Amino acid sequence: MIATKRNCLAVILAAGESTRMKSSRSKVLHPVAGRPMIAHVVDALAAAGISDIALVLGRDADKVEAAAQNPAVTSSVHIQTERLGTAHAVLAAREAIAKGYDDVLVIFGDTPLVTEAPLTAARAGLAGGADVVVIGFEAADPTGYGRLIVENGELLAIREQKDASEAERAITYCNGGLMAIDGRKALDLIGRIGNANAKGEYYLTDIVEVVRATGGRAIAVAAPEEELTGCNTRAELAVIERLWQQRRRRQMMLDGVSMIAPETVFLSYDTRIAQDVTIEPNVVFGPGVTVESGAVIHSFSYIEGAHVSADAEIGPYARLRPGARLGAGAKVGNFCEVKQAEIGAGAKVNHLTYIGDAIIGEKTNIGAGTITCNYDGINKHLTRIGANAFIGSNSSLVAPVSIGDGAYVASGSVITTDVPDDAVAFGRARQENKEGRAVLVRERNQAAKAARKKAAE
Ligand code: UD1
Ligand code: CA
Repeated sequence: MIATKRNCLAVILAAGESTRMKSSRSKVLHPVAGRPMIAHVVDALAAAGISDIALVLGRDADKVEAAAQNPAVTSSVHIQTERLGTAHAVLAAREAIAKGYDDVLVIFGDTPLVTEAPLTAARAGLAGGADVVVIGFEAADPTGYGRLIVENGELLAIREQKDASEAERAITYCNGGLMAIDGRKALDLIGRIGNANAKGEYYLTDIVEVVRATGGRAIAVAAPEEELTGCNTRAELAVIERLWQQRRRRQMMLDGVSMIAPETVFLSYDTRIAQDVTIEPNVVFGPGVTVESGAVIHSFSYIEGAHVSADAEIGPYARLRPGARLGAGAKVGNFCEVKQAEIGAGAKVNHLTYIGDAIIGEKTNIGAGTITCNYDGINKHLTRIGANAFIGSNSSLVAPVSIGDGAYVASGSVITTDVPDDAVAFGRARQENKEGRAVLVRERNQAAKAARKKAAE
């Protein structure tokens, strides 16, 4: 690995106006798999062992800087005050580049699907003697991308869509926006770029012709289109999300997760699912979910910020909200919502229930329609239920309240005071039966009906 011996600065360009996104915030803040686009780019750099990053920012600089934080990298921030093009943007990071690096890698904040492979390939090209290495891709639809003009293995020029001739527009080999430049020459080369083009911008892509004019060498290295898909519009954002999801689902399945209809399962950037978990169709994972081996996630479940232990079962139609922690073999069934609560191993919350701010012991059974009344309008309160307890259907547990191990709560109870271990709690009015009263009621109703009919005649 020659590339790893050379040091490297990555310059991430993210100062654009994001005009085409039609958004009140910078496009690099828009999430892919629940995480700002730019964080994905920083992750790829970190994975490629690149730890020095210069962020070129414009609008929302503070937010973008925060979104780009990553413990594996050190980043400096450079504000591009006027948006005069991608070459001008790189020069905003002049101070960082001038520190002296073997490799300067320029990458766009709007290509979140990039992985370590093309980054390493670009640097390998420099190590192999090129002065500029551009990562290209074969575009299914090249519209909008800069076209790579290659002859005999040499990259002659990159022509932007607006400046390209008819013949050049027919080229499908495109600039992925990822470029490695000899670090000792970078500032000089970029400084020579002019703005005589259709947009009147300083195009970084002109570095190819500039380096050739100085007797240097530029090459293009191909990468899969998917990795370099750029995000300029919301429609492209949706395409990127789809590609990200496909890639991650595939990886999970290869790692031993069963998905019956993978195209209907939506994952977050940090979803962790162990081997031998089964995920049925139409399941959504928000951020912060881990699922242990053998668990089954039935259809139409929505899970975020939750931990699901081995062999637990969720859904169909279950909602696990942040802080839900299910023990081994626990069950949360249809139309149940669990928030900030621990469901003990083997416990069952099977039907139509809300469990919020609660600790439920092992093997306890929570009957249909049970509600923890956790919120008094100002504060949240805890409900504790011991092990092997039984909560009868349609009970309201008014927190703060504790129910002991092995306790029974009669159906329809409103529990406002603690229930000791092994006690039975009746929190409802006692039932009374009136013998024969139904006959009287019926006769009275019939008489009233007859009277009404007569009055109407
Ligand atoms: C650019 C490339 C094009 C390539 C495509 C790949 C140029 C001139 N064109 O076009 O060859 O095929 O990316 O996706 O480089 N930015 C700044 N400051 C500026 C201008 C842009 O920071 O003054 C940033 C943007 O925030 C963005 C990136 O640079 O992250 C690229 O800019 P964008 O306008 O999206 O370029 P494209 O037209 O997509
Ligand atoms: Ca772009």
